[in-house]
Amino acid sequence: MLILGIETSCDETSVAVVENGRILRSNVIFSQIEMHRKTGGVVPEVAAREHIIKIIPVIEEALLKANCSMSDLDAIAFTYGPGLMTSLLTGINTAITLGKVLKIPLIPVNHIEGHMYANWIITNSNESTPEPQFPLVVLTASGGHNELILWKNHGEYKFLGATLDDAAGEAFDKVARLLGLPYPGGPQISKAAEKGDGSRYNLPRAWVTKFDFSFSGLKTAVLRLVENHSEQLKDEQFINDVSASFQESVVEVLAKKLAKAAIKFGVKEAHLAGGVSANKRLREKARETLPTNVALKFCTDLTLCTDNAAMIAAAGFYRYQANSEKYKTWKPVEGNPNLALKNW
Ligand code: KG4
Ligand code: ZN
Repeated sequence: MLILGIETSCDETSVAVVENGRILRSNVIFSQIEMHRKTGGVVPEVAAREHIIKIIPVIEEALLKANCSMSDLDAIAFTYGPGLMTSLLTGINTAITLGKVLKIPLIPVNHIEGHMYANWIITNSNESTPEPQFPLVVLTASGGHNELILWKNHGEYKFLGATLDDAAGEAFDKVARLLGLPYPGGPQISKAAEKGDGSRYNLPRAWVTKFDFSFSGLKTAVLRLVENHSEQLKDEQFINDVSASFQESVVEVLAKKLAKAAIKFGVKEAHLAGGVSANKRLREKARETLPTNVALKFCTDLTLCTDNAAMIAAAGFYRYQANSEKYKTWKPVEGNPNLALKNW
């Protein structure tokens, strides 16, 4: 089954072709990062206009790279939410129009569920990777979401915890801004941290309830630190050390909670998903913290960690397998598509 995936939830216009939910045929991503760097963050109005310009060329390129045409497609999966409504609309309307014209099923996908399916995708570099095995625990950490989930089977979730305030990626972005690093902050902090000393500043770890997260206190602690050392903001070593200390604090909490969940539910696999799963230190810390009999999985291809349409096509495939009749006749219904997976 050949699925066209469309993702426009934030600042990436992405279209992919995925075969049978796992085999990557193409994954074209047009990132607006350079544009939003000028304003230090995403301006929804600007993002929306850029999606309108890029969506058709990106679809054409994805089909070309996958060596197929519209008539070869069996279904269209698209991000229905959560995300910036003005950005989502371009992908949603394009998908609905294409689906109606081609007379093929339309599969609305939750963006976070999409991130979770990125670990199912087979690329040229991980061909021999075995299919993930349920039950497993997955940590989703992105710019807008941070959840710990026991994933029992396709479509079967137990939501263990979530952030009570900022998501991990949001904390990376806000701290980067405090340090004068460009948008998006995550990759910048992680780069600075490689040259820094993570033990120089003892920043707080918020353990809150068992599987929930909270990063706003940490963000405030960094703000105070920076205010008290404002003369050092031009000192590269200071930036590197604060970045490393902050990163240690975030990854320690994320890794320990992931390990705690893996042990409690006796799973054999733990997954990292979402933009923050691109963080090298998080991957190392999770490996160190998880019991040795629990396999750790994440996407080695960084373009599959951050927003992309291949993960949406993969998630769409499994949704379709579970309930094909529903998607053959799907149409938009009243209600808010901008809901977390728990309320989807
Ligand atoms: O999943 P994603 O691409 O978009 C959302 O769904 O939000 O995640 C983007 C987030 C941003 O906050 C970005 O700073 C963070 O992921 N991120 C990272 C890294 N790469 C991206 N955070 C830490 N380390 C990284 N290497
Ligand atoms: Zn995302």
